[in-house]
Amino acid sequence: MFSNFAKNSVECMNNRQLFLQHVAQTSDAPLALEIVKAEGMYMWDAAGKRYLDLIAGISVCNVGHCHPAVVKAIQEQAQQYMHLLVYGEFVQSPQVAFASLLTQHLPAQLNCVYFTNSGAEAVEGAMKLAKRYTGRTEIAAFNRSYHGSTQGALSILGDEYWRNAYRPLLPGIQHLEYNNFDSLALITEHTAAVIAESVQAEGGVNVPQRKWIHALRERCTATGALLILDEIQCGFGRNGTLWAFEQFGIEPDVLLLGKALGGGMPLGAFISSHDIMWTLTNNPVLGHITTFGGHPVNCAAGRAGFQALLDQDLVKDVKAKEQVFLQYLRHPAIKSVRSLGLMIAVEFESFAVNKKVIDYCIEKGVLTDWFLFAAECMRIAPPLIITEEEIKWACAVICEAAGQP
Ligand SMILES: Cc1ncc(COP(=O)(O)O)c(C=O)c1O
Repeated sequence: MFSNFAKNSVECMNNRQLFLQHVAQTSDAPLALEIVKAEGMYMWDAAGKRYLDLIAGISVCNVGHCHPAVVKAIQEQAQQYMHLLVYGEFVQSPQVAFASLLTQHLPAQLNCVYFTNSGAEAVEGAMKLAKRYTGRTEIAAFNRSYHGSTQGALSILGDEYWRNAYRPLLPGIQHLEYNNFDSLALITEHTAAVIAESVQAEGGVNVPQRKWIHALRERCTATGALLILDEIQCGFGRNGTLWAFEQFGIEPDVLLLGKALGGGMPLGAFISSHDIMWTLTNNPVLGHITTFGGHPVNCAAGRAGFQALLDQDLVKDVKAKEQVFLQYLRHPAIKSVRSLGLMIAVEFESFAVNKKVIDYCIEKGVLTDWFLFAAECMRIAPPLIITEEEIKWACAVICEAAGQP
């Protein structure tokens, strides 16, 4: 403690005030709910108020909050060992077991997993990998795509408003139009990789046309560019299949995972073939390194969460649950609903209307928010364990909110 003044002010302030004072803020209007407990579909605040979670920590808690198997795995691994050495040196059984389990559920060429701490780091690793493997420097990405907040990920982010303040960014980046066939001609023999979300999330749930994503795959193959699919937000059953790309009948050269990957703990991954991945290991050696990537406790948690997703067959009912939402999300103020599985965007006339609806929902104990590039759309991406009753209740609250003056 550096002074009595600081000591006194800390003692007088409540947690909310301390949060605003001492925790770096990302906006001038944080939700600032103080949650003291979370379990399954629900969170409870310090006053004991319960919230139904319609956004799953932004597509993280697919198996629900504090899944008992995840908590147990964390406790057991923490007692065994935590950090030992930087990523890649020791054989750490939680990493090995999780990488093995993941690759069993992926196409054959996606057989080598590089674990990171976050989604953005997976994006960064994949961009470096593509440059190194192809010997090319250009990267193509899509307008209205979000891939993270680090410099490389920001460089490919598909919205100038968010990019502009941080220029200069990476050179050699081309932004294409999602679902636009003409745009594909911009992918050439100079393109190291094309990075696309399998379903654009922050764009407000933009689902690719099957023909278009096939054309994208073909163009990448024809030009020798790697196709990197970002399933950081849409993976792990959220769209009604384990991986979104399965629904379109294509396979990526590199797959990006994050968010739900850690079962509630921080974990990301870029996954490719052993051959492609090998290029990061030499000339220079240690081409991509991380201290904490693939932390053993997080890998143990992620594996337990993934196993729970499989054991509870949570993916099976996603499409049926989507239909319940679509059936009950009916109100004159709702302009449209876009969805693929339990990734849903409810469009209102404006951000002002959306914000009013969201605030009312939170007031009534239904937690939701909006999308970065579609502020007029409400986000619905609940844990996959949500029940039909909970969906009907949430929809009733949303419609009630939409009807408020
Ligand atoms: C599609 C997508 N890619 C990448 C990221 C970045 O992940 P992280 O926030 O873990 O860095 C996000 C985060 O929202 C995302 O939605």
